Amino acid sequence: MCVIGLGYLGATHALAMAKLGHHVVGIDLDSTKVESMNAGKMSFHEPGLEVALREALSKELVRFQASFEMTEPAEVVFICVGTPQTGSGGSADTSYVFAAGETLSKAVSRETVVVGKSTVPVGTAAALRKRMSEVAGFPIHLAWNPEFLREGTALEDSLNPDRIVIGSWDDHSSQKLKEVYKPILDKGTPLIEVNVPTAELVKVAANAFLATKVSFINAMAEIAEVSGADAVELADAIGYDERIGNKFLRNGIGFGGGCLPKDIRGFVARAEELGAGEAVSFLKDVDAINQRRRARVLALAEQELGELQNKKVLMMGLSFKPDSDDMRDSPALEIALRLAQAGAKVTVHDPVSLAALGNKHPELIREQDLSAAAKDQDLVILGTEWSEYKAIEPTAFGDLVANKLIIDGRNVLDVASWRAADWRFIALGRNVHN
Ligand code: UGA
Repeated sequence: MCVIGLGYLGATHALAMAKLGHHVVGIDLDSTKVESMNAGKMSFHEPGLEVALREALSKELVRFQASFEMTEPAEVVFICVGTPQTGSGGSADTSYVFAAGETLSKAVSRETVVVGKSTVPVGTAAALRKRMSEVAGFPIHLAWNPEFLREGTALEDSLNPDRIVIGSWDDHSSQKLKEVYKPILDKGTPLIEVNVPTAELVKVAANAFLATKVSFINAMAEIAEVSGADAVELADAIGYDERIGNKFLRNGIGFGGGCLPKDIRGFVARAEELGAGEAVSFLKDVDAINQRRRARVLALAEQELGELQNKKVLMMGLSFKPDSDDMRDSPALEIALRLAQAGAKVTVHDPVSLAALGNKHPELIREQDLSAAAKDQDLVILGTEWSEYKAIEPTAFGDLVANKLIIDGRNVLDVASWRAADWRFIALGRNVHN
C-alpha cells in the first residue's frame, strides 16, 4: 500500500499499517522529511513513532520517497495530506488533496482502492472521485475512512481505535479496507459502514463536538469567575452523569493544535456554502469562548502585575498539549507572544518544543533548564500540562523566583500544596485565589 503525506496523520498511519504487517511506501514531496524517515529519524515529537519507524525499516516493511513513481501500482493508496485553513474565511484548503489525487490518477490501476483520510469539507470526496476518474480515464475506486488519532497517543490510537468508519461507493473498496484492517477488526473494534458524505462529516462532527465540550466548560469557568463558583468542582459534579461524561471537561486556556480550531472554522465555512450556516453558527461562539480564555490570562497578568512593561514572566510549556512539540494555534505560545508584545520579558520553557521553535519568535527568551528558567521571575504561567510541571516541588521552586505568583492555565497543580508553600495561586475558573 501507499500513504501520501507524511505529517502526523500520514506518518502515523504508514507506521501503524507496517505494524499490522503491510508493506508500505510513504510519499511526501518534502525530500528532507523523506530522507530523514528513511534514516530512521522522525521530524516531529510523537511518543513511540521513532521506535516503530526503526522497527518497520529493519523489517523492510516501509520505505519513503518523494516521487509518485511506483514499480507496480499499489493495491490501496491512502491520501493523508493536510487541509490547512485558508485566509480569514476559515474554509479548508483542499488543494493538496486534489493535487495528490490528480498525480495519483496517473499511477493507479483499475483495481487500486484510493482511500481519503484527510479531514475535508463534506462533498470533497465526490468532487475528487470525479476529477480523478477524468484524469485516469476509468472510474476510480474511492473510499473515505476518517482517522481519529490524537497527538501524544497517535500510534496507540491508530492501532486501537474506538471504531473504524468506512464510507464507500462500491463493494470492492470497502472489502479491501476490511482486509487492511482485519487485525484490528478481529479484536472486536466496531466497524461503521456509512455513505461517503457521512464518513466525511463524522470527522468534523466529532471534532466540533469535542471543541464544544471544552468551550462549554470554559464558558462555565467564565461564570464561575464572576460568581464565586468553582468550574473544576462543577465539571466533576456534572461529569458523574454518564450522559455528560467527565472527559474533555477540563477548563483552562482552551484548545489549540492543528485540528480542533481549524476544523470548527472549516465546518462553519462549508455549512455556509451549503446554505446551512445557521445550523452550526454556534461554533463561532465555541471559537470565541476559546479565544477569550487566552485574553483572560493576559488580563489576570495585568491585574496582578500592573503595567507589564519589563515584568519577567515564565511560560511553562509551549506545545498545544503535552507529549507533542506541535505549536500550531497553541494557547500557551500565543499567550507568551502577547505578553511579550505588551512589553513583558517572557522566558519560555518546554521539555521538547524548543527545538521545533527554532529561531522563530526571537522576542521570547528560551531556557531549556526549568530551574534556570524560573530564576527571578515575577510571574509563572503553566500553559501546557507536561508531567514535569505537575511534579514541581513548590517550596524549592519558590526560592528561585522573585515573586511567588503562579497562574495554572490547565488546572493540574495541587492548589493546597502551592498555597502552603506561600504562593499566590491563580487558577482559571476556580474560586481558590488566596
Ligand atoms: C483532536 C481529536 O481529539 C482527535 O480525535 C482527532 O483525530 C484530531 O484532533 C485530528 O483531527 O486529527 P488533538 O488535536 O491531537 O486531537 O488533541 P486533543 O486531545 O483533542 O486536544 C485538543 C486541545 O484541547 C488541546 O489543546 C487540549 O489541551 C485541549 N483540551 C482537551 C482542553 O482544553 N480541555 C480538555 O478537557 C481536553
